[in-house]
Amino acid sequence: MTDHNASTSFDAIHAAAAADPEAFWAEAAKDVSWMTPPTRVLNHDNPPFTRWFEGGTINTAYNALDRHVAEGRGDQAALIYDSPVTNTKTSYTYSELTEKVAAFAGVLVANGVGYGDRVIIYMPMIPETVIAMLGCVRIGAVHSVVFGGFAANELAKRIDDCSPKMVISASCGIEPNRIVEYKPLLDEAIEISSHKPDHCIIFQREMATATMIEGRDLDWRDAHEGVAPADCVAVDSSDPCYILYTSGTTGVPKGVVRSTASHIVALKWSMKNIYDVDPGDVYWAASDVGWVVGHSYIVYAPLFHGCTTILYEGKPVGTPDAAAFWRVISEHKVKVMFTAPTAIRAIKREDPEGKLLEQFDMSHFKTQFVAGERCDPDTLKWIEDKLKVPVIDHWWQTETGWSIAATCLGIDKTPYRIGSPGRAVPSWNIQVLDTAGHPVPAGEIGSIVVKLPMPPGSLPTLWNNDDRFVDSYMAEFPGYYKTGDAGYLDEDGFVYVMARTDDIINVAGHRLSTGGMEEVLANHPDVAECAVVGAADQLKGQVPLGFLVLKNGVTRSGEDIVAEVVQMVRQEIGPVAAFKQAVIIQRLPKTRSGKILRGTMQKIADGVDYPMPATIDDPAILEEITIALAAIGYPKS
Ligand code: COA
Ligand code: AMP
Repeated sequence: MTDHNASTSFDAIHAAAAADPEAFWAEAAKDVSWMTPPTRVLNHDNPPFTRWFEGGTINTAYNALDRHVAEGRGDQAALIYDSPVTNTKTSYTYSELTEKVAAFAGVLVANGVGYGDRVIIYMPMIPETVIAMLGCVRIGAVHSVVFGGFAANELAKRIDDCSPKMVISASCGIEPNRIVEYKPLLDEAIEISSHKPDHCIIFQREMATATMIEGRDLDWRDAHEGVAPADCVAVDSSDPCYILYTSGTTGVPKGVVRSTASHIVALKWSMKNIYDVDPGDVYWAASDVGWVVGHSYIVYAPLFHGCTTILYEGKPVGTPDAAAFWRVISEHKVKVMFTAPTAIRAIKREDPEGKLLEQFDMSHFKTQFVAGERCDPDTLKWIEDKLKVPVIDHWWQTETGWSIAATCLGIDKTPYRIGSPGRAVPSWNIQVLDTAGHPVPAGEIGSIVVKLPMPPGSLPTLWNNDDRFVDSYMAEFPGYYKTGDAGYLDEDGFVYVMARTDDIINVAGHRLSTGGMEEVLANHPDVAECAVVGAADQLKGQVPLGFLVLKNGVTRSGEDIVAEVVQMVRQEIGPVAAFKQAVIIQRLPKTRSGKILRGTMQKIADGVDYPMPATIDDPAILEEITIALAAIGYPKS
């Protein structure tokens, strides 16, 4: 059924992309700069694997920087660094950033990094991080950025999985309540990993000085001395541009691979068609470069499109207050901004009337985008009411690299529906299937899947692990990519994303695996069994909540054990896990076949009615859980 207000251009574009994806993407590919144009647009001869733009050669950094200098944008700001935590604002033009990236690429080459080598980047939100990423792709090296809130152990897992030749880091990151020294974490990670990088390049910040290891560690500034800049290297379309690890259903992260050419083409297309920005506009994604949003919309897409991008080292609140976002928007004349609903909830909590907004000139600001977690209607309506601009929810994942569903502002004038992140973006074929793999009627919840082949930009595989790629995403519903999200489509094709079908939770817009946390808890010497669920949280959307069953004979204080497991998760996974609460219970609720009833535990924590599971082995345990949770303040509302 067609919406009365449906934009014909959107429908026509959607239909064209569905009917002939090759022609659609061949046209989009004309907008990017090739070293050798592709000879074949789509190769899906070997499903579920898809290859785009075969035969082409291209360079990511050239498309992000050099091409704009060549086309006359050299004096335009490419990157504005705005850091309330260091009281710094710096702007780099396209020419300046190109020069810095070429110089750093030269440093990489001088230290033995070349085409195809992996480089881990473990850095805070500073310009050198962007320079490091672009320096890698300039020479055809594959970067893997690791979010600063992860602990040494998580960093070590990534070092072992992608075997980097080099690690690039900084002496510290800055959180509002503390300086996070990265170097001790990096040293510990290299100590525990089996693979050892040849070198580490460390950017020293004045707030902390990293102790260097002779022979292995190089100072960022010193390393530049006497080194010639390096030019852009032509890489094949399918060569990986980067690997980004994301939570899977176990403690072993998945190395999502991004192919070079399809990434450039898809992201370039998204800027006008989804975000409705033009070259020269100022675009701001308030995320972190450690996440996919940071990769795609702080660094790559805005630069591919010749925009000015903002790198913001601060928080929505507390740096210094809940006006921080409005200050940045007004001061830098931001046209489009992108953040997570959690950030908006944090602002709303501190400034419920939106009074702080009144002092700023927001006349350049046209659209607020949100993603990363489900946006509850209250938050969306509140921010829309205060900003008085469209607030567009859109849905995507690390795996896809850009939106699966959105209101494509550049081509779609259909009113959006609160509660839905929109309709399938052209070239995405979203369907909802039941457990047997049959499509369900409109309005009925099922597994949200994407019909193959996936559009450009989405993951071609997992790093060094085609089998896990197939098992995780392609095996359950042959012919479809399983998003891992559950939800429904309405009669007009608007998708409603309700929950995950696996054990991934979304904490403050950060994707985490409860399975990974359970692996840590299970290592505590007094813990016999455990479970972690995501409990609803008014600020962060969800927070992890642990359930511990102690070994027989343990007489130690439960409070001490909980404090220890909280510390263990912080130590093993990192502060970003935000694991702060656990309860001790006599046994876990299970079905008679031994399956832990995590869904029921979650409902008790959230104060939601639940049907008594028919196959539960011991119903009395649910009452015990209710009492234990009440003692620590659950349900919260
Ligand atoms: N390096 C080191 N530690 C980090 C970190 C980083 N880059 N990022 C977060 N942390 C730490 C925090 O300091 C905090 O530690 P603490 O337990 O000692 O306080 C912990 O990880 C949890 O951080 P966070 O989830 O950010 O919670 P918070 O209470 O510090 O802040 C918000 C709450 C709402 C301000 C914050 O979560 C936020 O800005 N959310 C928006 C998220 C976002 O933009 N996500 C991007 C996806 S699109
Ligand atoms: P990440 O890979 O970290 O980007 O997390 C992706 C997951 O976040 C998705 O699979 C969803 O579960 C959730 N998510 C992201 N955007 C949205 C959205 N707009 N609405 C609902 N859930 C979302």
